[in-house]
Amino acid sequence: MRISRLLLIPFILAGCAGTAAAGYAPDFDRYVDIELAIEAAASAGGLLPGPGRPERAGQVWVSLERGDVTALDGALFKRAPVAQNKHLAIYEFETEDLDQLSDGMYRTFARAPGFFAHDTLEAALEDLKAPPPLPARAYTLDQAARVKELAALPREENIAEGIRALAAFKNRGYRYATGVDASKWLQREWAKLAENRPYVSVAPFKHAAFPQESVILTVLGAAEPEKVVVLGGHLDSVAGYGDNAAPGADDNASGAAVTQEIARALLAGGYRPAKTIKFIAFAAEEAGLRGSGEIAAAFKKEGVRVEGMLNLDMTNYKGSERDIYFVSDNSSPEQNAFLGRLIETYLPYTWGTLKCGYGCSDHASWTKNGYPASYSFESTFEQHNPFIHKATDTLDKCGGNAAHALKFARLGVAYAVELAK
Ligand code: BES
Ligand code: ZN
Repeated sequence: MRISRLLLIPFILAGCAGTAAAGYAPDFDRYVDIELAIEAAASAGGLLPGPGRPERAGQVWVSLERGDVTALDGALFKRAPVAQNKHLAIYEFETEDLDQLSDGMYRTFARAPGFFAHDTLEAALEDLKAPPPLPARAYTLDQAARVKELAALPREENIAEGIRALAAFKNRGYRYATGVDASKWLQREWAKLAENRPYVSVAPFKHAAFPQESVILTVLGAAEPEKVVVLGGHLDSVAGYGDNAAPGADDNASGAAVTQEIARALLAGGYRPAKTIKFIAFAAEEAGLRGSGEIAAAFKKEGVRVEGMLNLDMTNYKGSERDIYFVSDNSSPEQNAFLGRLIETYLPYTWGTLKCGYGCSDHASWTKNGYPASYSFESTFEQHNPFIHKATDTLDKCGGNAAHALKFARLGVAYAVELAK
């Protein structure tokens, strides 16, 4: 049923300064028809793509916490928001203005509070809808022998090698040639894991709006291949400042290298899951979760049955007392509890929880699309690696080895074996 245009209530620009003129924004706390909302946004914004009008290259839609917008410099916002709900507002941006937005956030909040960026207005409007409730499911731990055998296989030196190789690219920015090269390098590395294994394949996930590709290694399930378990972390780094050096050794060469080592260990152990496992190195996380946002939305659209997602982003800096921390917001409480039990049952590590307070990494894209997702993290929020997003995010800040990251690889193996059974 289509709603009446009366529901597209007038929106008066309160709290967002700048040159934007007053416009109309649909109220997403009530029922909103997405097509109508796009039409309304198009006629209000002028520059927006209307029906039959193509999107321009470089156009991007960003969803932000409204509270954050109020605190930010109004000059960052050249136009009125095109839509909003109680918590979030959607703005149209030019791609080249995004770095300025990140910088502005960094200056205002001491660290970026995070935002989602989308190629299309339609995708951005999805952010305003409440995520669908997750169906209840049972998590069981009954693969002790297999877990113990396979969780012993990840090797610290392999992870350190992976981190060194990825951090050697000057930066892995999603729009930089070196960021593209880093993705291609990972594709070649992962292709080696697929050699002589007909049930393993590697493919890039190409993104229409930017050149960096996500990388997907698929281990086809032997019994229920249509059910999918996802493990992964972002391969990109920030663009870098000054001479653009951004090694991103901890954020997030460490998570990408751990993802690779989990795949290597499982395959080296001759493991063939019952369900399909997809290992993903996400592009463009630092640009607003764009790689994972596109992939998770595509999976949802295609009806892919993702049983669970584990995000590995920053694994190698031991800043806190406990070993592994789980992000409690924008994640699945049931799956988080399952991960805690995996540690208690199989691994000699301690765990805790932390809160980001916003969709701080790729797990949020999966949560948003209705999949159970978790984010395992290196420390408490306050004690995370202080060198990230700078030229100083190098392996030596983590002791020059991957001892901490190894714990996450072992957890990832246990997670895969107990969930993809
Ligand atoms: N790895 C960080 C997320 C992070 C940093 C979590 C510190 C906990 C503590 C991630 O790569 C990142 O920088 N995310 C952005 C948000 C994103 C949506 C652009 C952030 O946190 O500012
Ligand atoms: Zn990160």
